[in-house]
Amino acid sequence: MNGLYDMHCHIIPGVDDGARTLRDSMEILRDERAQGVENIILTPHFRMNMFETSRDVVEKNYRALVEQAGKEFPEMKLYLGCEFHSNHDMTDMLRTDPRYRMCGTRYVLLEFSSAHDTGYIRNRSYTLISSGFTPVIAHCERYSPVYRHIDFAEELCDMGAMLQVNAASVLGMDGFGMKMFCRKMLKRGLVSFIGSDAHNTSDRSTHIGECADFVEKKYGSHTARRIFIHNPQMFTADQL
Ligand SMILES: [Fe+2]
Repeated sequence: MNGLYDMHCHIIPGVDDGARTLRDSMEILRDERAQGVENIILTPHFRMNMFETSRDVVEKNYRALVEQAGKEFPEMKLYLGCEFHSNHDMTDMLRTDPRYRMCGTRYVLLEFSSAHDTGYIRNRSYTLISSGFTPVIAHCERYSPVYRHIDFAEELCDMGAMLQVNAASVLGMDGFGMKMFCRKMLKRGLVSFIGSDAHNTSDRSTHIGECADFVEKKYGSHTARRIFIHNPQMFTADQL
């Protein structure tokens, strides 16, 4: 499939727990290219008291990566997003600085902790929606309130949130339980995005091409194109 997107990954050097150096970043990009990925939304973490790299530094390192990537992969497009860990001040932060959102749009790649309960996830998602943002819940298969109750996943979608799962989870690399849950979600049409969440080229690498092939075979070309191309285009539409 041409024109694949990876909309969740940690490839910008030296800003979070992903690529450490520009060399690491280029290795991951080679991997992405080998998987057939042409468009990447780079989503460095922002998490209070853990990943607080200033957005100015993120932007500077993003530009250095774009310049280097352009030499080896002139056909590849790299966009700047963010994986934003939920907190109580998030609405103000997101309103004030568009760099915490996906390419400055109203979409927010929203991460929770494994300790967060149903009430917290519902409340934080609703707060964003009522403030005019669209939460894209990052690797939702990791949160027990979601994977234990698929009806809660459905409730979040009905509320206006969108759900993302990781390619490795769909392919069964993160265990049988996650694989079965992701496939149930796909069958019920609850998955809007599949990202790699790649941090390196070893234990947390990209599997976008393999996963797109799997989704196409199992759920059809229309579903695969919606998840891997059309939906992520919403983040970049005004930048094409
Ligand atoms: Fe991530």
